[in-house]
Amino acid sequence: MSNEIANPKITSSSEILEGKITARNINKVFHVRCTEGKGTKEFVALHNFNLEVLQGEFLTIVGPSGCGKSTFLDMLAGLNHPTSGEIRIDGKLITGPALDRGIVLQGYALFPWRTVRENVAFGLEIKGVNKEKRRKISLDYIDLVGLQGFEDRYPYELSGGMKQRVAIARALAYDPTVLLMDEPFAAVDAQTREILQDELLRIWEETHKTIVFVTHAIDEAVFLADRVAVMSSNPGSVKEIVKVGLPRPRRLGDIRSSPDFNWIRHKIWQLLQNGTNGSRRTIENYQGRTQDLAEEISPTAVL
Ligand SMILES: Nc1ncnc2c1ncn2[C@@H]1O[C@H](COP(=O)(O)OP(=O)(O)OP(=O)(O)O)[C@@H](O)[C@H]1O
Ligand SMILES: [Mg+2]
Repeated sequence: MSNEIANPKITSSSEILEGKITARNINKVFHVRCTEGKGTKEFVALHNFNLEVLQGEFLTIVGPSGCGKSTFLDMLAGLNHPTSGEIRIDGKLITGPALDRGIVLQGYALFPWRTVRENVAFGLEIKGVNKEKRRKISLDYIDLVGLQGFEDRYPYELSGGMKQRVAIARALAYDPTVLLMDEPFAAVDAQTREILQDELLRIWEETHKTIVFVTHAIDEAVFLADRVAVMSSNPGSVKEIVKVGLPRPRRLGDIRSSPDFNWIRHKIWQLLQNGTNGSRRTIENYQGRTQDLAEEISPTAVL
C-alpha cells in the first residue's frame, strides 16, 4: 500500500489497512543479580507480547510502571532484542538500529555541544547528505516544529518544551517511516504538553508517519491515538487494545472535554485498575448508542 493512507481514521473494523510493525509471541528475559548470595536469576519482563501496528497509524501504549513499555520500544528501535519471538517492520526482521526509525525519548538527549540546527542535522550527516541539503532540510524541520529563529541556540538556551521539539525535529529530519516515542512529554508542564500534543498531531497529519507512543497519561493516550494498547504487568503483555473512534482532526476542537473522550479515558482507567473491564454491553448502553466509540479487540486480532 502506498503513502496515500495519510490519516487513518480507524472507526470501522471493516477498513483494511496494511500492517507496518508486527510483534509476534515476544518474550524478554533479563538476567538480574540475586538479592541473596551470588549469581543471577531470570526475570521475565515480557511474556507472549503480541502487537500489530498499521501503516500510518498512531498507536499509543499505556501500562503500569515496570510493565515493559520501554523494553518493547527499545526492541522496536533495535537497541534490545527479544529472547524469543520476532518483530518485523515492513516484513523485515529488526536486527538493530536503522534510519527507518526515528526515536524520541524522555529527557531530550540532545547533543549539548551542537546548536539546534546541528542537532537536527545529525541523522542527515549519518545518511551522508551534503552540507547544503542538510542545512535546507534541517531548517524545514525546525520550521515544522515552530522553532524558527532558534536555529543557532544551544540546548541549554532552550526551555524543556523547545528541547523536546528539537528532539522531534531531529527524529523526523532523516525521514524515517516510523517514529518511536517513549514518554516524550513527561517532563514538561501541562500547558506545554497540550501544545506539543497538538503539534505532534499536526506533524503526523503532514508527514504520514507510523507512530508508536508510550505514555503514562491516559488523556494523552486517548487524545493522540487511533488505538491504545493497554498493557498488564508481571510479566508484561498486551491486555487489551482499545480503538479510539473520536473524529479527527482532534487538535482543532475541544475534544478533551467531550463526554466521548471522557468515557474512553474512563474505560482505559478501568482496564488499568485490573478490575472491571468495560464489557460490550457497557459500550452499547452508553447514552443509548451502539457505535464503536471505543472497541476492545484482541491484541492478536487481524484487522
Ligand atoms: N537491562 C535490564 N536488566 C534487568 N532488568 C531490566 C532491564 N531493563 C528493564 N528491566 C526490567 O524490566 C521491567 C520492564 O522495564 P521497562 O523499563 O520496560 O518498564 P516500563 O513499562 O517502561 O516502566 P516505566 O513506566 O516506569 O518507564 C522492569 O521490571 C525493569 O526492572
Ligand atoms: Mg519506561
